[in-house]
Amino acid sequence: MARVTLTDVNKIYPSRGETVHAVKDLNLEIEDGEFVALLGPSGCGKTSTLRMIVGLEAITSGEIAFDGRRVNELDPQRRNVAMAFETYALYPSFTVAENLAFPLQVMGLAEAERTAKVREMAAMLRLEDILDQSPGALSGGQQQRVSLGRALIREPAAFILDEVMSHIDAHLKFRMLFDLKRIHRDLGRTMIYVTHDQVEALALADRVAVMSQAELRQVGTRNELYHRPADVFVADFIGEPPTNFFPVCLRAAGNGAGPARLHVEGEDSDLVFDLAPARAARLRETGAERFIAGIRPQNLHLAGAEANVDVATVARWGAAAAGAGAGAGGAEERAGSRTGEVTAEVTISEYLGERVILTLRNGSRVFRALASPETRAARGERVRLRYDPQNVMVFSASTEALIA
Ligand SMILES: Nc1ncnc2c1ncn2[C@@H]1O[C@H](COP(=O)(O)OP(=O)(O)OP(=O)(O)O)[C@@H](O)[C@H]1O
Ligand SMILES: [Mg+2]
Repeated sequence: MARVTLTDVNKIYPSRGETVHAVKDLNLEIEDGEFVALLGPSGCGKTSTLRMIVGLEAITSGEIAFDGRRVNELDPQRRNVAMAFETYALYPSFTVAENLAFPLQVMGLAEAERTAKVREMAAMLRLEDILDQSPGALSGGQQQRVSLGRALIREPAAFILDEVMSHIDAHLKFRMLFDLKRIHRDLGRTMIYVTHDQVEALALADRVAVMSQAELRQVGTRNELYHRPADVFVADFIGEPPTNFFPVCLRAAGNGAGPARLHVEGEDSDLVFDLAPARAARLRETGAERFIAGIRPQNLHLAGAEANVDVATVARWGAAAAGAGAGAGGAEERAGSRTGEVTAEVTISEYLGERVILTLRNGSRVFRALASPETRAARGERVRLRYDPQNVMVFSASTEALIA
């Protein structure tokens, strides 16, 4: 079992006379038995972080500890972690079954026990039909599953998995995500899972650590990342389709101290978002006038007859915003919130089976909303969109950090 602690960890690679700062001052604590995903775009430092945890890469500065014990100088073998990487590194002269059995052989398990475990893993990862083949005869997705199986077959202190499903087709991946979650539950081992795919990260992990450009941006549950993103990057990266962002200017609505409105800047745009009083106060405290507002396409709802949204759905928005930790504000703020409304013209309507993505325009501003498949809003039509002011996120225009 292992609690993994990274303290002020840096990785700097020398690169053709220059240096690449691949991981910057990373602080992260992964609890014993926890499933944490490292999520971020290509090149943000995920693999470098994993390789330092595993011991395949020297740590430039900082400390990595397992259960409070520094492991910086410890060989990979002595860290007792099992790993699987995107590139498979299977033994080419062994069959699939022998590849799976190898770690067990090293551990000194008897043959009968090895065979039983290989059979169990093969069933779980759907490898039964290819057990006698050699890796060279397998597809990328099959090799990836064997590689994952070889890591999972051991019972180490921690599993370190790097993009292990990148070559597996969507249908099978869905089942494997489920299986991996179950394996984690059954074994109760610490798992660190690297991916650039938010669907994988959010489906699997207890907490997700979001990285960008060598830095950790936020660590949180999927709810925290979705409802309280630390900054513009996280709000943009988490959620599909991405959050709509607008440069806005804060103006008082009415007599000054109470509610306020966010006027979207831009030619010919008359978009205005309402803010609840408590949040307006938070913005005023900053002394700034300009901010970045963000609202998710899921939180903009077509209003009126064209929407085909029943009254119960509309009532649910409020309930959802007020639900367990989902809303941003306190109870008193929620009580003061009401539904806001903006108008826009539909420019594109994309039908995606169970939902429709509307691309909308208001002056020079383009943004998106999700609608139900029955939506009849057609191109060129002017529509009204309702939102709950609780779902308007406001970020600093200078630091891009979440303010309210
Ligand atoms: N051995 C190396 N020498 C020099 N630079 C490196 C080395 N390994 C990685 N880098 C650089 O460090 C940065 C982080 O790379 P890393 O592989 O950790 O990213 P990643 O988040 O895993 O990306 P991906 O999603 O593409 O796998 C990149 O700019 C990369 O070019
Ligand atoms: Mg990588």
